[in-house]
Amino acid sequence: MKVVHTLAELRDTLRAFESPAFVPTMGNLHAGHLALIDQAKPLGDVCVASIFVNRLQFAPHEDFDSYPRTFENDCAQLQAHGCDVLFAPNEGELYPQAQTFKVSPDPGLDAILEGAFRPGFFQGVATVVMKLFQCVFGQARGQGHAVFGQKDYQQLMVIRHMVQQFAMPITVHAGATVRAEDGLALSSRNGYLSPNERVEAVHLSQALRYMITHAQSGERDWAALEAQAMATLQARGWAPDYMTVRRQADLQIPQDGDTELVALGAAKLGPARLIDNWSFTLG
Ligand code: PAF
Repeated sequence: MKVVHTLAELRDTLRAFESPAFVPTMGNLHAGHLALIDQAKPLGDVCVASIFVNRLQFAPHEDFDSYPRTFENDCAQLQAHGCDVLFAPNEGELYPQAQTFKVSPDPGLDAILEGAFRPGFFQGVATVVMKLFQCVFGQARGQGHAVFGQKDYQQLMVIRHMVQQFAMPITVHAGATVRAEDGLALSSRNGYLSPNERVEAVHLSQALRYMITHAQSGERDWAALEAQAMATLQARGWAPDYMTVRRQADLQIPQDGDTELVALGAAKLGPARLIDNWSFTLG
């Protein structure tokens, strides 16, 4: 695997390829990221990953400074999974001037759920992904491919809209959420949990399953279902931001006749803010 730190080196390395397949990450890689690499490998003629902890998507009170940086270990894992090129720029390389020009996602998507609790988050994500796409695909002659995890459901939607609305020659692929044996969705932030919190953490996905089971049994009072899931987590010591059932297509509240739904939740447990979701169908 070739590791490059500058845009010039990246462009030089990718010049020979027509159709890169790209997995952007913030490092601290786990099996979920590596599954995205495995998925990306056969999609293009070169598999590229990036590691960049993007300051723009962190609010001042969030964990930018403490976000785990595990570069050597990440490199070894990417290499073992057959990644061809790792782009690991420093901040000065990706943001040589203050990034005053930003990509603003559709307000309907930006202002709800994650966006409501993390204002500016999706703008920060869209801006860095637009920039990384320019770096990786800027000189590609063929179709590009990018793979994003479905655990970040709303992020995936934002990126899909961005690619569609800017007519970018990139196919965005969704990677299935990888879970630990007990059902906890893998996340870099799981590392913040104490052993006891780690045991408790599975209750986020269980509370989502609770909403799904009741929806599939005919419950349509979404507000009551959400309140019940929130109360269950609160009683267990969590601080939930939201627990909700939405339409898969646009993350709006389901209307009569909608069948393709997704249960999404975000909640703090000790020092970690965890998110998860499950898609489901009403029969
Ligand atoms: O999902 C992530 O790790 C980040 O939001 C991403 C897409 C790499 C942008 O910084």
